[in-house]
Amino acid sequence: MSALDVRAFTVGPVQENSYIVRAHGDATAAVIVDPGDEPARLLAAAEALGAEIEAILVTHCHFDHIGAVAPVARATGAPVYCPGIERPVLADVMRWVPPGFGPFENYEADHTLVGGERLNLAGIDFEVIFTPGHSPGHVTYATNGALLSGDVLFQGSVGRVDLPGGDWATLERSIAGLLDAFPADTVVYPGHMGVTTLGRELDTNPFLSERRVRDPRVAAADSPAAGR
Ligand SMILES: [Fe+2]
Repeated sequence: MSALDVRAFTVGPVQENSYIVRAHGDATAAVIVDPGDEPARLLAAAEALGAEIEAILVTHCHFDHIGAVAPVARATGAPVYCPGIERPVLADVMRWVPPGFGPFENYEADHTLVGGERLNLAGIDFEVIFTPGHSPGHVTYATNGALLSGDVLFQGSVGRVDLPGGDWATLERSIAGLLDAFPADTVVYPGHMGVTTLGRELDTNPFLSERRVRDPRVAAADSPAAGR
């Protein structure tokens, strides 16, 4: 049973989920994933938990996921981990923000990621997985029965692929990679909407219907031989 303590804060006009993650409920160290907006609220939440933010993890650099990176980094001194391909976006945020949003501050990432890294931050082991398709450099952070997966997979939906660098076939491969690598009860903490599991999405997500037909776990459950 995972002791991981994950707190969700839905922030900003696009209702993005920022997560404060600790190794357990009494831990005094935390990481924050995708601080998208409302930095004062996120910092106050960490303080209320008695947790110091030791690292800032970014899944991808759409503005709704990075709007509070600079102020949270400044307030905490925590290093920022960002997909390498998207580092220039974080460093020049407003160039990519549609009219009516922001302003957001630029930030030069302290560490860049390509996927395949293993990080130990705030006493938590994270595996970094390259999951492009929604955006070109998107990464997912996997730890202890949980995925912090940004805009890859949602409850009943998937990340949009019509923004620059988006591609459906690529996203589909990224989702398939997660389904292959992690068990069905893996908890998915997505960048928007509610928490789900890989198994629930494999069973019910309309965007995964083709995958459902091919997945041996589902095929076994559907087969007339099941229940023997
Ligand atoms: Fe996004």
